[in-house]
Amino acid sequence: MRIPIIAGNWKMNNTISESLALVDGIKSNKLDEEVEKVVAVPFTSLSEVKKALEGTDIKLAAQNMHWEDSGAYTGEVSPLMLKEIGTDYCIIGHSERRQYFNEIDESVNKKIKSALKHGIKPIVCVGETLEERESGKEEIVVKEQVLKALEGVDKEDIKNIVIAYEPIWAIGTGKTASSDDANHMCGFIRKTIGDKYDENTKESVRIQYGGSVKPSTIKELMSKEEIDGALVGGASLVAGDFVKLVNY
Ligand code: 13P
Repeated sequence: MRIPIIAGNWKMNNTISESLALVDGIKSNKLDEEVEKVVAVPFTSLSEVKKALEGTDIKLAAQNMHWEDSGAYTGEVSPLMLKEIGTDYCIIGHSERRQYFNEIDESVNKKIKSALKHGIKPIVCVGETLEERESGKEEIVVKEQVLKALEGVDKEDIKNIVIAYEPIWAIGTGKTASSDDANHMCGFIRKTIGDKYDENTKESVRIQYGGSVKPSTIKELMSKEEIDGALVGGASLVAGDFVKLVNY
């Protein structure tokens, strides 16, 4: 059985005090214990949010990391730094990082391996552009992203990885992929992983959908066989909405 996982990606939103207010808002509600809950907060808020999450079962994520433990990489944050704070997950290869910060499949792969080495669970983002979808290339693009991301990653480590299928055209646009399309692509990713590893790995890997997920669309998405969770941007910034997403 795959445990559902709902993650809020706050992106570049919330100062420390705003982060704490949002966590307070989330914590003051009853959250489904059978759903894994994750908040991916800005680097500056990680430490304080970690303390605020003590005594809850909400997990903490970073939104990016460097693959090296330390060194002359001005402005970067290392897995050791994240680990010391007690960061459970790290989003890796988000399309906004690919689009605006030159993130490429090779660096995504290095970051995944480094995160795994340090006991941080990667949430690996893949997804096609509108142009790629309109020309019918979504499977080719996503398969290549998945295979390059997982190059050299052992089968045993896949249980610690979450894949997030986030079609770029659906992010922040209000256009959600239809639940059937999202289910199809999550199934396609699962098959890709099954072909690379084996049947057990295929059945156990958790795959999220992301892209304009809202309280009004979550139930339908989560009813689909291949969709194990959601990676949510905008709606995760409102405590009440995040609570509704978790309690779908
Ligand atoms: P939105 O939910 O705002 O479309 O963002 C999705 C996303 O990019 C989550 O990582």
